[in-house]
Amino acid sequence: MSAPRLRLLVLPLVVVLSALVPASEAVFPTASFRVQSSDPVRAPQGMVVSEHWRASEVGRDVLAAGGNAVDAAIATGLALAVTHPSAGNIGGGGFMVIRFPNGSSTAIDFREKAPMAANPEMWLDERGEYDRQLHHYSHKAVGVPGTVAGFDKAHRLYGDMNWERLVYPSMALAQDGFEVHDGLAGGLERLVERMERYPATVQAFSKNGRAYQEGDTIRQLDLATTLQRIMLNRRDGFYVGETARLIVEEMRRGGGLITAEDLEMYQARERAPIHGRYRGYDVIGMPPPSSGGVAVVSMLNMLEPFDLSAMGHNTAPYIHLVAETMRRAFRDRAQYLADRDVVDVPVHRLTTKAHARALMSDFQTDAAGVSAPSDVAADHESPETTHYSVVDSDGMAVSVTYTLEAGYGSGITVGGGGFLLNNEMGDFNAGPGLTDENGLIGTAPNLARPQQRMLSSMSPTIVARDGNLVAVVGSPGGRTIINTVLQVVLNVIDFDMDIQSAVNAARIHHQWLPDRIRIEEDGTSEYTVELLESLGHTVSLGGRQGLAHSIMIDPRTGERLGAADPRNPNAGARGH
Ligand code: DON
Repeated sequence: MSAPRLRLLVLPLVVVLSALVPASEAVFPTASFRVQSSDPVRAPQGMVVSEHWRASEVGRDVLAAGGNAVDAAIATGLALAVTHPSAGNIGGGGFMVIRFPNGSSTAIDFREKAPMAANPEMWLDERGEYDRQLHHYSHKAVGVPGTVAGFDKAHRLYGDMNWERLVYPSMALAQDGFEVHDGLAGGLERLVERMERYPATVQAFSKNGRAYQEGDTIRQLDLATTLQRIMLNRRDGFYVGETARLIVEEMRRGGGLITAEDLEMYQARERAPIHGRYRGYDVIGMPPPSSGGVAVVSMLNMLEPFDLSAMGHNTAPYIHLVAETMRRAFRDRAQYLADRDVVDVPVHRLTTKAHARALMSDFQTDAAGVSAPSDVAADHESPETTHYSVVDSDGMAVSVTYTLEAGYGSGITVGGGGFLLNNEMGDFNAGPGLTDENGLIGTAPNLARPQQRMLSSMSPTIVARDGNLVAVVGSPGGRTIINTVLQVVLNVIDFDMDIQSAVNAARIHHQWLPDRIRIEEDGTSEYTVELLESLGHTVSLGGRQGLAHSIMIDPRTGERLGAADPRNPNAGARGH
């Protein structure tokens, strides 16, 4: 459909809604990330913190117009699909954790699924050799997307505002365009170079093959048309009809597996969240197919007997202890966690205090543990996903992490649909028995099977105490997500940091294998590194870990404190 016709169709809505689409404003600090934004953004009623300030504004405007936190989360997620195409999506999937004002909670699972034609050996070539390109960057790497079904389900169950009002601002953003910031310009240029073989990607994300520059306006007319179908037909605007037809056509073009039946059959699932207790706080996390809730709660259980604040933040004893809990939680992750709809996962046992005590029975304060590549090794995960947090004026809290898996997912844009497809099938293990020291995993639970959801690390999390909301937390970053979330929670609970300091503070990462502690740039002193090495740890320094856009409630005033992670200067907290 041409742009003028599209415009015509939505004209009545434009009149009602155009006042709600915010004017642009952008002043981005560029200094070293840790010295900026020392104060969170305060607001009396509602708050949205996301990877792109413009998407936060879309969500904030929904709250200000009377929508609840679920409404705002849906609107923000759709806006990110326009303004943050590396991870914001309608062609991917993710998780939403919701805590209601009465203290109850739930979770919406809209993780991608394997198509019916998937099988555990699908990443092996004719000679039985593992084909990494096929596993991560091909039409076969695309899982059946879940985002639109997830938003539709969340809205039907818990939304207040009408659906069109939630989708319209994103459609308008796609159609009218928005200003490209430097990070996006660079990302799109690399995407288009890498994906020259896909004309639809070149068309959607460049100016007829010329790279977008900072300050240009990017318009995405095919995406606007797809969003319009979603606006008018909700879930069916994606999973049946024209959008589905375009996806299936794209699959045929590139040898992908997703069929019309796979799309039609896809269902988002409501699930009971993981619940943990830590020093009197309630921790609400995402259950399988995420490993996040189980791993975060398990690490908190392991840490509870220790006086962390007495150790001091990011001192050698602290990093040693926390890394040892990470080693153990990630070993459990590799051994047990997968889609519980298909595989038996001992979720309850893994999150008990008794299990944590057993895991820590061999912990030594003066020596690093050892990770053996016995049945699992680390696999590649790239740093692209996105997390956002929402709190409304009633205290409903929503924590969403969703993803295309790699930055810009598979890099495959649906021809005529204008949106990128995920490469989430890469989160399945490589193949039966294919565990090796170089990073392949071949354990059974997380192998690709028809309709199975691939294991995730995404960890949208909510913290409460005595029935009151405390914080909404989450992050991108592959397996580092779990550890980023853990540390933001520890910074708030054990170190009494305000939410912005908790988000800004340097982070560490250990994931069992490779057996190594990674510490963020400027994260610690040489002396601390030497101490850790003297305990037997291998330490690597540098890089940035996560983008933990979080919200905390000021316990004295009830204000919403929004902390955008300064590791991305284009992120934004917007309140009202
Ligand atoms: O679901 C997962 O755990 C991964 N597909 C997430 C990928 C990710 O976070 C990449 N980075 N930020």
